[in-house]
Amino acid sequence: MGDEIYHSHLDVFLLWACRETGVIAELIDGPKSPDTVAERTGITDRAATVTLEALADMGYLEESDGKYGPTAELDGFRPETDVLDKGILPHRLDVLEGYMDLPKLMRTGATPQHEMDELRRYMGAMATIEETTVRAVVTAAEHAHPQPDRVLDVGGGPGRLSTEFVRRGADVTLFDIPPVIDLLADHHAEAGLETVAGDATESLPDGFDLVFSSRVILTFSPTELRDYFDNAFTALDPGGTFMCTERTRDHSNDVERFAAHMLTISPDGHTHTAAEYKSALEGAGFVDPAVTDIPGTGFQAIVGHKPA
Ligand SMILES: C[S@@+](CC[C@H](N)C(=O)[O-])C[C@H]1O[C@@H](n2cnc3c(N)ncnc32)[C@H](O)[C@@H]1O
Repeated sequence: MGDEIYHSHLDVFLLWACRETGVIAELIDGPKSPDTVAERTGITDRAATVTLEALADMGYLEESDGKYGPTAELDGFRPETDVLDKGILPHRLDVLEGYMDLPKLMRTGATPQHEMDELRRYMGAMATIEETTVRAVVTAAEHAHPQPDRVLDVGGGPGRLSTEFVRRGADVTLFDIPPVIDLLADHHAEAGLETVAGDATESLPDGFDLVFSSRVILTFSPTELRDYFDNAFTALDPGGTFMCTERTRDHSNDVERFAAHMLTISPDGHTHTAAEYKSALEGAGFVDPAVTDIPGTGFQAIVGHKPA
């Protein structure tokens, strides 16, 4: 057995333990020696010494005169860091906690509970989507429906894709669940986005020529997916287009692993084949359903058109 038994896990486990024991909060407060960290957090001297040395070796801390202070890698843990600048690391620690809950979730199928702080960190992580992916996805949407005037971005979250549609000249309404709309109201207003709060499986606002969503539908059960597709159809003007961006069975390399990850996120999430998506689109009334790879991304474009 080689060293790899701990390499891939140790960073995130160690950071998680440091968050839990208050070590990260102490270090963000200002550089400290291992002795001071041990005294203030109640961890042992040995744990403080080896942990701070290891985190420095990993690039999360820097040492000067026997005191350890945070590098920019830990900025996402600062309470004052804006929600959309938190990066992916704080959310990765929440994901780890979710994985440690897996035995319970697997036995009970229970709904994972997520608190407001976790939502902030989740949105921070979603905002790290790569710019090349954003552009490729929005370009795929424009291939499906050239120059849309009125776009509804369902489950738009931090609004990175919405903002790209705005940059290309569309009026965009970002739709998401109420806590997300409340949390990010200032950011969305600043980005020039209209917002509507609600549940896409219940109803959507109407009057759009493109209804779009990215990375949302795997959280839906098959019934919720059909309800969402029905609502998207109603939300479109005649001649409008619906496009979801998602990982699709038979097309995506990591959809099976992502489905296992979804056990910790959604009570009913589900993956589908291209044929199942096309059938659900036709069931909602869409014509010319298509599922195609979006170049340069791991995602597919799932597209249907509302007859004119
Ligand atoms: C993985 S994030 C994707 C955010 C954004 N679309 C992107 O690709 O960067 C999923 C988003 O869908 C939203 N969402 C999940 N279920 C929803 C529902 N039933 N109605 C509206 N929004 C929903 C979540 O709140 C979250 O903002």
